[in-house]
Amino acid sequence: KYKAVIFDLDGVICHTDRYHYQAWKQVADDLGIYFDEEINNRLRGVSRMESFEIILENYYGSMSQEEKTFYAEKKNEVYKELLKHMSPKDLSQEVKETLAALRLKGLKLAIGSSSKNAGFILERLGLSGYFDAISDGNNITYSKPDPEVFLKAAQFLSEAPIDCLVVEDAKAGLEAAKAGNMDCGAIGDGKTCNIATYQLDRFSDLLEIVEG
Ligand code: BG6
Ligand code: MG
Repeated sequence: KYKAVIFDLDGVICHTDRYHYQAWKQVADDLGIYFDEEINNRLRGVSRMESFEIILENYYGSMSQEEKTFYAEKKNEVYKELLKHMSPKDLSQEVKETLAALRLKGLKLAIGSSSKNAGFILERLGLSGYFDAISDGNNITYSKPDPEVFLKAAQFLSEAPIDCLVVEDAKAGLEAAKAGNMDCGAIGDGKTCNIATYQLDRFSDLLEIVEG
């Protein structure tokens, strides 16, 4: 029944949470801002600058836009250094096999990620060139929960949004799919917010869902 599947990247195809945490933690410590794993969880699916705004809720000074950009870039430098630890070994066998099986069923596969590092992460995982389309933080104006990133992915695939299934681990991403009139499957932490069309206990549950 679906013609394409659009995957969020961070938290769905791979797990970059702890790298985001370590990199933000370094910036927060430099600025004397309290930051913990719980706050880090609120950054899922949210763009880099919006993530920093959330972190700054615990900053009691004032900061100019230039300074905000400076610290966000600093975080990204640390983050990119940490991403170099990633390799094709970080791609689970289950994800690899499920993607291949979906493709065999004739489905188009795309990435719909808020990250500006999506291309680099896919390269580290050995997935460069694997997806039929990539829509990421570099081709959008509005980040999740706005549906733009997923609508662009559907457009890149030349498919109607209604024929696409979105897979997400973050509330902002599930809301974005809904706003784009797309069905969505929630995985991992995404299962705790009950707005998804399907709940995925495992990544490979997708195979049953696309069978209809
Ligand atoms: C999302 C992550 O995929 O990308 C967020 O879930 C992150 O935590 C966002 O803030 C932006 O990432 P980047 O790589 O552009 O800083
Ligand atoms: Mg995610």
